[in-house]
Amino acid sequence: MNESPDLLETLALARDFLSREIACAPASVARIDDRESDADPLIILDREACSCQKCGLAQTRTSVVFGSGKTNADLLFVGEAPGAEEDRQGLPFVGAAGQLLTRMIEAMGLTRKDVYITNIIKCRPPNNRDPKPDEIAECQPYLLQQIDLIAPVVICTLGRFAAQTLLQTTESIGRLRGKIFEYQGAKLVPTYHPAALLRNAHWKRPAWEDLKLVRKLYDGTEI
Ligand code: URA
Repeated sequence: MNESPDLLETLALARDFLSREIACAPASVARIDDRESDADPLIILDREACSCQKCGLAQTRTSVVFGSGKTNADLLFVGEAPGAEEDRQGLPFVGAAGQLLTRMIEAMGLTRKDVYITNIIKCRPPNNRDPKPDEIAECQPYLLQQIDLIAPVVICTLGRFAAQTLLQTTESIGRLRGKIFEYQGAKLVPTYHPAALLRNAHWKRPAWEDLKLVRKLYDGTEI
């Protein structure tokens, strides 16, 4: 096989993601990319959200975890809600699941700076409980505006909660994953949550298939 060095590196990262043992290095994450501008409407919205008091989570959070990455990314990842580490740092997916997400993105041949990462809700539910319907309803406008401003080509939802919320369905993640849905002019592909992959290594193979589909949609080689 005559693989280019880049492809070989990507294949090595994919093997790394698929292997059972993942030694996660700390994620190197910035809230916004290097080309940020004070006039960027997404940055302005981020600042507004930081003082949000629309639901009870404002009383218990340390930080509003608005999102991080490239403000005009073609690929948007949407998770569930910040956990303890995300609440502490004010950044999405920086705990154990986040470090696996970083590996997944790298296995696709991208970096966290190439994509944008956010959650359905922006503040940590106490004790990592599921977000409540009123919290989702109050937070939804932020996500819808994020999608509108970023205008991604592909949205990859992580886990049952994000897929069910965006697609307004109660279908299981096992049935939703790997399919292509239309969402606000973007292609939406649900896959497993990285935290679930840390618990169930046998889901990594289907998750890798989903990520390859996401990459093809990102490249425009899959319609
Ligand atoms: N899990 C999520 O869904 N989002 C995060 O930001 C971290 C963990």
